[in-house]
Amino acid sequence: MESKAVINTKSKERGVLQSPELYNYIMNTSVYPREHECLKELRAITSTQPRAVMGTSPDVGQFMDLLLTTINVKKTIEIGVFTGYSLLQTALAIPDDGKITAIDVNRSSYEMGLPMIEKAGVKHKINFIESEALPVLDELLKDAENKGTFDFAFVDADKDNYANYHERLMELLKPGGIAIYDNTLWGGTVAMDEESSVRLRSKPARKNLIAFNKYIAGDARVQISQIPLGDGITLCRRN
Ligand SMILES: C[S@@+](CC[C@H](N)C(=O)[O-])C[C@H]1O[C@@H](n2cnc3c(N)ncnc32)[C@H](O)[C@@H]1O
Repeated sequence: MESKAVINTKSKERGVLQSPELYNYIMNTSVYPREHECLKELRAITSTQPRAVMGTSPDVGQFMDLLLTTINVKKTIEIGVFTGYSLLQTALAIPDDGKITAIDVNRSSYEMGLPMIEKAGVKHKINFIESEALPVLDELLKDAENKGTFDFAFVDADKDNYANYHERLMELLKPGGIAIYDNTLWGGTVAMDEESSVRLRSKPARKNLIAFNKYIAGDARVQISQIPLGDGITLCRRN
């Protein structure tokens, strides 16, 4: 199915939009001119890394900023930090006494972006935990005082655990709390046949995301909207 070949797979320069020109138009008109200087610098630092493609897209970051300020998020959880683009975006958006529990198995990537978090003056809002995310969520749930207290969660780590994260987040988020799951359109490959998609993106992650999209679409505990920003995000509100 060569008609799908315009979908970007190697970089995030086009997101999942079929038209790279339109994506660039959005980025150049609405996103980059308004991006915080420290986020720009963090992106520049990240671009030197071999796994730079993992960074959250600035258009998703801009959307998060709008959402976080609109719903007055104060207490959040982030699963999958990498060099910290979405983390810094979140830290900039929440109030000075806001708190982010940020989890990643790899502290060294976080430390790469840390100078920008410090320069932005928001490090005091971040509790970084170097760990697999699931045990940290389980530990949080052991304390009844954490249940139903988080305003927001951003999930951007191992795709095979999205449903497991969701189950825990249903207990950690307050009613009306929001979770965003990143990469849920996986470069557009979720809508391709397996043979075409395999040349483009990781096969296990694609399968896991297809299963997750189906699972969350059937979850009566939440309202959802799948939004084609960046690599596709699913916005989810706990009822
Ligand atoms: C796509 S990147 C996150 C990008 C980040 N949100 C940003 O804005 O740059 C995914 C991250 O998840 C981390 N990760 C992978 N599996 C994990 C797990 N089981 N628990 C916690 N972190 C994990 C990886 O180390 C990686 O840094």
